[in-house]
Amino acid sequence: MMNIIRVANYEEMSIEAGKLIAEKVRANPSMTLGLATGSTPQGFYQYLVKDHITNGTTYKNIKSINLDEYIGLPASDPNSYHYFMQKNLFDHVDISSKNTHIPNGAATDLDEECVRYENLIKEVGGIDLQILGIGQNSHIGFNEPGTSFHSRTHVVALAKNTLEANARFFAKLEDVPTHALTMGIASILDSKEIFLLASGTAKAKAVAQLFTEGISEDFPASALKQHQKVTIIADEDALKYI
Ligand code: GLP
Repeated sequence: MMNIIRVANYEEMSIEAGKLIAEKVRANPSMTLGLATGSTPQGFYQYLVKDHITNGTTYKNIKSINLDEYIGLPASDPNSYHYFMQKNLFDHVDISSKNTHIPNGAATDLDEECVRYENLIKEVGGIDLQILGIGQNSHIGFNEPGTSFHSRTHVVALAKNTLEANARFFAKLEDVPTHALTMGIASILDSKEIFLLASGTAKAKAVAQLFTEGISEDFPASALKQHQKVTIIADEDALKYI
């Protein structure tokens, strides 16, 4: 089941998502959140930080599992997702560093890291609420078109248009890591509930495909149609073909 919450713009998407997530954290203060990076979640992280300060929502017992990480960037690199999460959320709320988890893209044995991460998700009791963005090519996490819906945490070679889309954060295209670690589609679908956020016309085609195309590995986000509890929070621009 996919519910759609239609909002006017990025700011409203961030407030709506932030409110719903903060409510869930208050209702279940030891839940496990599945977190995402990129431009899309930045606004609702800001909302969560503000809400933590003004309303005292606590993350003391919250656990977090991040979707993905570039391979080869140390946690101290400003373009790593470790760094992103520290700066955008973890440094500003009372979450414990022992409870935050991100795939280690600097691991020497990446296959072992994939197994460790997949086991970790099980050990924390699974993800209660997974937050997702969507790539222009329909990717979720870093699961590019063609990824098996049975996939678990794995190493991926990033698609050319993903490298181009993410080059804006780097000095030049050649600096974008070509590979990443990502939770698989099956790992994502195991989450009890999923929020998919989308904003802007660049995402309109990928969002429209979710409704017009069938379930296909050519459109990774279409896997979400197999899930029982998905909410799409998207703005007018992202929903312009719907
Ligand atoms: C990135 C991330 C995804 C993210 C997507 C959209 O490459 N790996 O997890 O959801 O692409 O990114 P953005 O929100 O910056 O548009």
